[in-house]
Amino acid sequence: MFNLSLLILNFITSPSVESPASQQAEKITRLFNYFNIAAVGMLLLVSVLVIYITLKFRDKKGDTRQPSQTTGSTKLEAVMIGGPFLLLVFFFYQTVTVANEVSPTPNRKPDVIITGHQWWWEAQYPNSKVITANEIHLPVGRQVLMELHAADVIHDWWVPGLGNKMDMVPGVKNYLWLHINKAGTYEGACSEFCGKQHAWMRIHVVAQSEADYNKWLQANAAEAAQPSDSLAMRGKTLFQSYTCANCHRIAGTGAKAMIGPDLTHVGSRQHLLTGLLQTSEGNLYKWINHPQQVKQGAYMPDFIMDKDTVRALAHYLEQLK
Ligand code: CUA
Repeated sequence: MFNLSLLILNFITSPSVESPASQQAEKITRLFNYFNIAAVGMLLLVSVLVIYITLKFRDKKGDTRQPSQTTGSTKLEAVMIGGPFLLLVFFFYQTVTVANEVSPTPNRKPDVIITGHQWWWEAQYPNSKVITANEIHLPVGRQVLMELHAADVIHDWWVPGLGNKMDMVPGVKNYLWLHINKAGTYEGACSEFCGKQHAWMRIHVVAQSEADYNKWLQANAAEAAQPSDSLAMRGKTLFQSYTCANCHRIAGTGAKAMIGPDLTHVGSRQHLLTGLLQTSEGNLYKWINHPQQVKQGAYMPDFIMDKDTVRALAHYLEQLK
């Protein structure tokens, strides 16, 4: 149902390029604002001239004089050609400079490799063997190199507060440099139509101080927590004996497949399904019980499982912190 207040709220709180939080985003926003100033200035200039000329040179009754002709005015032509030409040179120079500053050639191993899937994000940290999904942790205060590609169709990485978009293309490696200035959570979304759940392919970047980031890496490099009670124990056994393990990985268990999101520390993430649900045992239950009712078209089918089985699986996964 159409909900106007929700739409307005969404608009106000949506991530914006006008609040840049990385060095790259600051440069792009500055360039964007140069364009805005030039465009608005041009609009004002033309509008004022049109209004002035319309009023001043209106046809008056009985006035048969012809307007004076300015054909061949070298001065006027020089201004009209020279002005836009200088403006073009200025914007060309600024654009090339910013593009080079924002995207220098990668000169080292990436800090994180992100793969777009229908409809979730896989993140691998090659320096620490961490594999996670959807919630991307990055350090602040230094240059981070991201490698981006896709597993199935073309996706597009875009976190407006952190800078430019970057296409994610199957079989192609694209790179993005990020120097985030301030710790915080930055929201983004896939911005290339990629199928049914394109709208629910949100990005959550958690930018942390170097110390917090290292702590997070360390916690996430560890194998999955052992179940702490009998229900969770049952969930773990079920996870490995059912088809779950054919698609998902839980480090330290027999589940090693990488078709769906890694679940090793799924309970520690804020959201499920790229932001569609908050992580909780109840929401895990809801999802496992009827994936197609929660995120229609997602590649996790509706399995017909009894309630106790679903409860045990949800309980187990929620404990994976
Ligand atoms: Cu992925 Cu749109």
